[in-house]
Amino acid sequence: MDMGRNLFVRREVETAKAYSPGLSVDEIRDLYGLERIIKLASNENPLGASPMARRAVERAAGSIFRYAQSGSPRLAEAIAAMHRVKPECVALGNGSDEVIDLLIRCRAEPGRHNIVTFKPCYSLYALQAGFCGVELRTAPLRKDFSFDWEALLTLVDGMTSLVFVTTPDNPSGYCPPARELEALAGRLPAETLLVLDEAYMDFAAYADGAVDGALADYSLLPRFNELNNVIILRTFSKSYGLAGLRLGYGLMPAALAGYLRRVRLPFSVNTLAEAAGLAVLRDRDFHLASLREVERGRALLSRELTGLGCPVYPSLSNFIMFSPPPGASLSAAGLFDALLRRGVILRRLDSYGLPEFLRVSVGKEEENILFLEHLQELLAAV
Ligand SMILES: Cc1ncc(COP(=O)(O)O)c(C=O)c1O
Repeated sequence: MDMGRNLFVRREVETAKAYSPGLSVDEIRDLYGLERIIKLASNENPLGASPMARRAVERAAGSIFRYAQSGSPRLAEAIAAMHRVKPECVALGNGSDEVIDLLIRCRAEPGRHNIVTFKPCYSLYALQAGFCGVELRTAPLRKDFSFDWEALLTLVDGMTSLVFVTTPDNPSGYCPPARELEALAGRLPAETLLVLDEAYMDFAAYADGAVDGALADYSLLPRFNELNNVIILRTFSKSYGLAGLRLGYGLMPAALAGYLRRVRLPFSVNTLAEAAGLAVLRDRDFHLASLREVERGRALLSRELTGLGCPVYPSLSNFIMFSPPPGASLSAAGLFDALLRRGVILRRLDSYGLPEFLRVSVGKEEENILFLEHLQELLAAV
């Protein structure tokens, strides 16, 4: 008997695809019985978690029987102070994924509005738009994965409620200059909001040994208070090392942030995430060390992958997109499987429509070197 026929679900749910995550360490350990696994699949922090965050979580553990303070105002204030924006403009979420979902649900009405982005792009924009029944229009990236603003703008009309741009982009690592983003914001219709997903911006903005040393070159965040049609999304999952706790936020016009707070499920930011978030904002040494480690590792991976003959895409993020050397007997999928059997997890990009590429997250130095050694052996073996 087809039980599915008796279930009333919305059409969008029936056809919805699930998010395709990177493989986990436990999955691969169980599958291949390996002892040492190197996970370079999900752009996590190579240094792990900040010691100050761990201590804060331990201290907060005694209060997990209580609900968190509604709206996490202390954290919103700390974030606002860091970015020099008003606390009312900060909308927190259970990861920036929740903020993306809330923006779509609050701002895009099915059958009326549309959302515009590039293709390929971070998959959640399309997944949540599809689930909400909202039209998603996509402009192709250029062959070199740079952004074709004219192609994007031809899709925008008076009913475009959100334009999503990921910068630096996932999965390519491409990062456009801030002046191009400002020009784009200036050309959008009055009601359209430009959402800049800056999940990886810390890695681009780190320069000359300083956090945010190059921020103004790549981000509109320093201009946020002057621009009234720009939303900036940030996450604690990458440079702050809190992916498992789920914490992200958006900076946006105060009225819209108020709607998001109204619609968000109560307490979606939990007690431990809030405590850890406050702690990592204070742990400047850990943040700086993380950015330094990524800059060093990215340079090593990029140089060595190129040396092995792999086409490598220039990245300002904490990952690198590459493909096997032209003429190699292993395809991207074959290479991915062979590395997996040796305990190295990369990210296949089939779900981005890019089956010929792989993405490697920058790991700790020893992990990067081990990955490169395995890769070299595999490429030499056939
Ligand atoms: C471009 C982009 N935006 C948002 C996210 C979601 O991050 P979070 O862990 O804050 O939900 C990711 C995570 O991989 C991402 O790549």
